[in-house]
Amino acid sequence: MHVTFNFSLLFVGKLNVLYIIADDLRPTLGCYSDPVVKSPNIDLLASKSTVFFNAYAQQAVCGPSRTSFLTSRRPDTTKLYDFNSYWRVSAGNYTTLPQYFKSNGYITMSVGKVFHPGIASNHTDDYPYSWSVPPYHPPSFSYEKRKVCKDKDGTLHSNLLCSVNVSEMPLGTLPDLENTAEAIRLLKSMKDLGNPFFLAVGFYKPHIPFRIPQEYLKLYPIENMTLAPDPEVPKKLPEVAYNPWTDIRKREDVQALNISFPYGPIPKDFQLRIRQHYFASVSYVDAQVGKILQALEDLDLAKQTIVVFTSDHGWALGEHGEWAKYSNFDVATRVPLVVYAPGMTWPLQEDRMFSYVDVFNSAAEQPAEAYGVHGMVELVDVFPTVASLAGLPPPRRCPFPSFQVELCTEGFSLASLLDRHLRPTSHHAYAHSQYPRPSDSIRPDSDLPALADIRIMGYSLRSSDYRYTLWVGFDPKTFRANMTDVHAGELYFLAEDPGEDHNLFDELNHGMMIRKLGMPQCLFPHS
Ligand SMILES: *[C@@H]1O[C@H](CO)[C@@H](O)[C@H](O)[C@H]1NC(C)=O
Ligand SMILES: *[C@@H]1O[C@H](CO)[C@@H](O)[C@H](O)[C@H]1NC(C)=O
Ligand SMILES: *[C@@H]1O[C@H](CO)[C@@H](O)[C@H](O)[C@H]1NC(C)=O
Ligand SMILES: *[C@@H]1O[C@H](CO)[C@@H](O)[C@H](O)[C@H]1NC(C)=O
Ligand SMILES: *[C@@H]1O[C@H](CO)[C@@H](O)[C@H](O)[C@H]1NC(C)=O
Ligand SMILES: *[C@@H]1O[C@H](CO)[C@@H](O)[C@H](O)[C@H]1NC(C)=O
Repeated sequence: MHVTFNFSLLFVGKLNVLYIIADDLRPTLGCYSDPVVKSPNIDLLASKSTVFFNAYAQQAVCGPSRTSFLTSRRPDTTKLYDFNSYWRVSAGNYTTLPQYFKSNGYITMSVGKVFHPGIASNHTDDYPYSWSVPPYHPPSFSYEKRKVCKDKDGTLHSNLLCSVNVSEMPLGTLPDLENTAEAIRLLKSMKDLGNPFFLAVGFYKPHIPFRIPQEYLKLYPIENMTLAPDPEVPKKLPEVAYNPWTDIRKREDVQALNISFPYGPIPKDFQLRIRQHYFASVSYVDAQVGKILQALEDLDLAKQTIVVFTSDHGWALGEHGEWAKYSNFDVATRVPLVVYAPGMTWPLQEDRMFSYVDVFNSAAEQPAEAYGVHGMVELVDVFPTVASLAGLPPPRRCPFPSFQVELCTEGFSLASLLDRHLRPTSHHAYAHSQYPRPSDSIRPDSDLPALADIRIMGYSLRSSDYRYTLWVGFDPKTFRANMTDVHAGELYFLAEDPGEDHNLFDELNHGMMIRKLGMPQCLFPHS
């Protein structure tokens, strides 16, 4: 039966959850004041939501980040720094966010890339533990890396830049279009079911290759594109902090450029085109989000469904001479986090919450500015937040260490920060991220070392004022970091240096810094 709620959120535990995860999306969105990107649908969602302006991933690479936020544990607990193990086998039998909802009577469903595929989620996306029904994978994804991108001469290649005529694609579609259709189909099937649902939708874009419908490029004329403000590798950047973006080098169009390893650079006109394609990919994802929100509205579910929009981590668009995730910089670790809770972030009185906005119609009106929280928050906070918004008991805080504890959280619920009328002032002082490296000098596997090859771990702390990163010795057999074995450090004061280009680590008296900022102890969230 379909129930119309007229409630105070605190007393009803039956709100649905729509959890949307973009892949490699930094907050290049209108609602994050990005001046270039057109994202009218996410902006409309944001206008009725709370927008976390300082949300950070715990490790800037897909598998480890997803396992971390879906279990609400940091990479040092999941022991998943690469893609090659399953946390239930290699760390602990941790209860995931969807699994927690499933055990509380929800129907839980996964569409697209939610868990990282492969052994990282036991080749099953953690089904059946996390999901009520087998996860959906769009058939057209099998063509994602194939030679389907047409060059000017009509020949097909496996390119990085791959704007396509969708009707000419194998199967006549693209993975995120299929994801959207499946998500809408599932929403329809949920409408009259009685059980609350938890639907996770993982879009594949703006992750490379930029295989997207060609019309989105028109939104970003190449003559309007600019380079990153800091396209050079910073002079005082320790080598261990840099990563050589090997994955884009594997694409045919990038190979043809014969770019030198490890620093490049990429020719400027090609840099502009990469940025253009990334932005177009974001608008393409935005349109998919708009279609799903429209369906939520049409099915009369918008007033009883919590919506979370986020990403697994960011992506450098040429900043510091990099074109990838795989680092501790803000461009790689900072993510969008938009949380809509009906009746809490927006009053229920309004007739319509959402309607699809056509990005190609420039007459579309601008949504109201979003309510933003500027405190530091982390993706491990999402699990306890969504649980508490849905009226489920939030999992308890993990003891340290928590390897044997199946259900607990290393984050905090952000629920009390959502209400714009309460205007809470502060949350955490810091957001923590980390990144592993195989050696002090750059190697092809510096981007993503296998667990057995990790020798150095970069622990990074982001406060509202600075980013501090210490690269220390790490033993992959014991998973122990040696904090007295310091290989390099980075310190950026963000008021003067928002792009994190001027490393002051060696210039300041390091002992003084440690005393003043309480480091390196506070590099560890548990201490
Ligand atoms: C892991 O947890 C699941 C339920 O969360 C349970 O069904 C399974 O038996 C557990 N496995 C082990 C090895 O403890
Ligand atoms: C992983 O998947 C295999 C094959 O489906 C299954 O036999 C095994 O029990 C799963 N592992 C865990 C820890 O559940
Ligand atoms: C896309 O491809 C179809 C089939 O080849 C063709 O009919 C159509 O004109 C193409 N559209 C564009 C915009 O090129
Ligand atoms: C490109 O830049 C020009 C000049 O700033 C501006 O008028 C135009 O709207 C821009 N085009 C798009 C599609 O953003
Ligand atoms: C690629 O660059 C290297 C040096 O940077 C040069 O020796 C080589 O000839 C180039 N190859 C091609 C195919 O341009
Ligand atoms: C930690 O590193 C220091 C400095 O390299 C070294 O002297 C010490 O033996 C290391 N400790 C362990 C437990 O490996």
